[in-house]
Amino acid sequence: MFNVIVKDTYEEVSAEAFKVMKGVLDSQKDPVLGLATGSSPVGLYQEMIKDHKENGTSYKNIITFNLDEYCGIPRDHEQSYWTFMHENLFNFIDCPEENIHVPQGNLADEEKAAADYEAALASHEVAIQVLGIGSDGHIAFNEPGCPFDSVTHIMPLTEQTRSDNARFFDGDINQVPKTAITQGLASIMRAKKIVLIATGANKAEAVKGMINGPKTTDCPASILQDHADVTVVLDKAAASLL
Ligand code: F6R
Repeated sequence: MFNVIVKDTYEEVSAEAFKVMKGVLDSQKDPVLGLATGSSPVGLYQEMIKDHKENGTSYKNIITFNLDEYCGIPRDHEQSYWTFMHENLFNFIDCPEENIHVPQGNLADEEKAAADYEAALASHEVAIQVLGIGSDGHIAFNEPGCPFDSVTHIMPLTEQTRSDNARFFDGDINQVPKTAITQGLASIMRAKKIVLIATGANKAEAVKGMINGPKTTDCPASILQDHADVTVVLDKAAASLL
């Protein structure tokens, strides 16, 4: 079930997403957090950092699981999702490094890395999963056509996603990795609560497909129609086709 909230600015969208996150942090003891990278959740992470600094909200006993990671680049690569999470959140809160889980995209045995990550994830209950959405309707790196029953796996990235992300690789699509390790759609659906953030007109079609479209692997996010508790926080441009 979707609870759709539309706001005017990215700051307001982030504040609204933070309200959902804070509700979980305040009402549960040490909830397991599912986190995402990308531009959509950066404002939410800034709110979490501010709240940690100003209100002392502690992440000392909190375990986190990220959605995905590029394959074939080292963890400390400036565009790895491991680096992104440290630069945008983990370096500024008190979550211990051993509690942080980001899939490993640079191991020789990628299938084993995926199976091990899924096993670790499945042994926890994710209280809240943060999501963005790709302009092609992907969530995590589950691209169109990815089966709804997928668990953590290696996924080839579409041209569309690689071209969307080229802005982080000197605008050069050739530098964007061709595969990623990602939680599957079934892995994401196990989270108790989901908060999905989308802003900008280039997300409008995907948001419409997710909420109003048929449930089809052509729009991977449409699987969320079957989830009991999804808050979707949008700006007007992303909501423009609803
Ligand atoms: C990131 C992820 C992706 C992004 C999506 C939107 O961990 O899983 O699905 O959420 O590509 O990216 P942004 O927010 O940069 O538009």
